Amino acid sequence: MFPDPLLVAEGTYLIRPLVQAPGAPVAMHLNSLVVQGSEPVIVDTCAALLRDGWREQVFSLVEPNDVRWVFISHDDSDHTGNLELVLDMCPNATLVTNWFATERMSGEVQLPIHRQRWVDDGQSFDAGDRRFVAVRPPTWDSPTTRGLFDTSTGVYWSSDAFGTPVLGLVDDIAELPRDMVAAASMEFSSWLSPWHEIVDPTKFQRWVDRVAALAPSVVVGAHGPQLTGASIDEAIARTRTLPEMPAAPWPGQPMLDEILAMMAPA
Ligand SMILES: [Fe+2]
Ligand SMILES: [Fe+2]
Repeated sequence: MFPDPLLVAEGTYLIRPLVQAPGAPVAMHLNSLVVQGSEPVIVDTCAALLRDGWREQVFSLVEPNDVRWVFISHDDSDHTGNLELVLDMCPNATLVTNWFATERMSGEVQLPIHRQRWVDDGQSFDAGDRRFVAVRPPTWDSPTTRGLFDTSTGVYWSSDAFGTPVLGLVDDIAELPRDMVAAASMEFSSWLSPWHEIVDPTKFQRWVDRVAALAPSVVVGAHGPQLTGASIDEAIARTRTLPEMPAAPWPGQPMLDEILAMMAPA
């Protein structure tokens, strides 16, 4: 399902396909971002299986020749699935990533070395009328993960962090029941970062503090609706408690058996 892109800030659009696996009770977003402006930016490139819809939506918002930057938040396939397509279609685009992400992708794609800019945690790059800062979110599933803060609009791209499964499409997470969001987002954070079980709770706050200090106007990530206003404060406060909770279990073989039974012909 490819709902219309959502305008989250001036010239900033969330591409927000929703996918629901067979038998799954909830759906997940596989979002990315298009930032127009004097030097347009594509932030993450979705999954290869969603290529046609993704390409159509992204390039309805920006001309391929105008794209100057493509930022990859980390090397997971739901973020890099159309990276080669973008580099092929957008000859003026520079890939913004970091050394280890390119290393980890090198077994799958040959990325043009002369079209890269390596921006590590805390570093920034200028894209014409705006400056972006790479800031690692507090939860992640790849060591290469870097979020992206747009200093001109206050939009923070959180990569996999602050995601939550949903029952259907909403524009803003505030439209969902708070209790449901609290439970689902913490479970998702735990799946994403099971190492939270062994981290020092006090030291972990430093990572949360860095994102809080950005005072983002909007938080958008790959796997949930946008967060604004009080929802941002609540998500940050919830994340602070992650080291205190036990790791959330994953669905196991009984769930797979259930799914297969549902799929079996009557
Ligand atoms: Fe990931
Ligand atoms: Fe992801």
